[in-house]
Amino acid sequence: MKVKKAIIPAAGLGTRVLPATKAMPKEMFPIVDKPAIQYIVEEAVNSGITDILIILNRGKSIIEDHFDKSPELELNLLSSGKEKFYDEINSISNLANIYFTRQKEIKGLGHAVNCARTFVGKDPFAVLYGDDVIIGKDPACAQLIRVYEEFKKPVLGISKVPKEDISRYSSLEVKNIRDNIFSCSNMIEKPNEDEIMSLYSILGRCVLTSDIFDILDVTAPGAGGEIQLTDAMKTLAKRSGMMAVEFTGTRYDMGNKLGIMKANVEVALQNNEIGKDFRKYIESVINNT
Ligand code: UTP
Repeated sequence: MKVKKAIIPAAGLGTRVLPATKAMPKEMFPIVDKPAIQYIVEEAVNSGITDILIILNRGKSIIEDHFDKSPELELNLLSSGKEKFYDEINSISNLANIYFTRQKEIKGLGHAVNCARTFVGKDPFAVLYGDDVIIGKDPACAQLIRVYEEFKKPVLGISKVPKEDISRYSSLEVKNIRDNIFSCSNMIEKPNEDEIMSLYSILGRCVLTSDIFDILDVTAPGAGGEIQLTDAMKTLAKRSGMMAVEFTGTRYDMGNKLGIMKANVEVALQNNEIGKDFRKYIESVINNT
């Protein structure tokens, strides 16, 4: 079955980047001139996704506005001859069928995913974490969908993380099948030193089957007192097997300060309009410090 649905959990409190997130969702932070969540929606659309559910909470309705039509702005752009901007603004509201729901209490990523049960029905679906932007020629979500379609099993997007950082991520037991494709038999969220199975961790993307919802219903709070998606995926892996793909592309964590700055610097350097001037500027800053 083709994967046509995706969910984007974007209800987290973003405490690591306070005070910026006090009134502004981190998913709306710009990378040069586009909010992070638009990169993610575009990745989903470029992966063949047609229906997207974005999971929000109170105070994040600015995300709904961003993907809505904006008649006043559009009219103004047209009447002042700014057709290029008009086309761009108009296309945002036509990217895909985008739906919104609210996670009423912020109880963790697993709890957020469980809010998508009705939207998903019995279909397989992709999860794109709302603060993980992945930029690359081959969309990361499409890479996972291809593995799902070949092996007919849930798929995790994985990457190696430095040993000193693994306790902040998850750790997976994986076996290489070929190239960048693995099978995954076990996982743990935020491992202690003696629980590390490998330096491979789940980073920002997965393709799941609807079996996950019954598992999430009975998943107790785990690391940090949150209902962890990793704990439910571990049960799913043991029950039906699971695949993993070490995706290509550069991942930017928009939930932490360094990630936000890396994303902006790297994307600005590649930007057609400001790239050259920005490079000169960065060089001058480095030479003067
Ligand atoms: P994170 O753990 O990175 O986000 O979740 P957070 O909870 O906002 O982070 P901090 O620790 O407070 O800074 C990954 C993704 O899952 C969403 C977040 O919005 C983010 O996009 N999420 C997390 C939810 O939708 N609901 C939750 O209860 C938790």
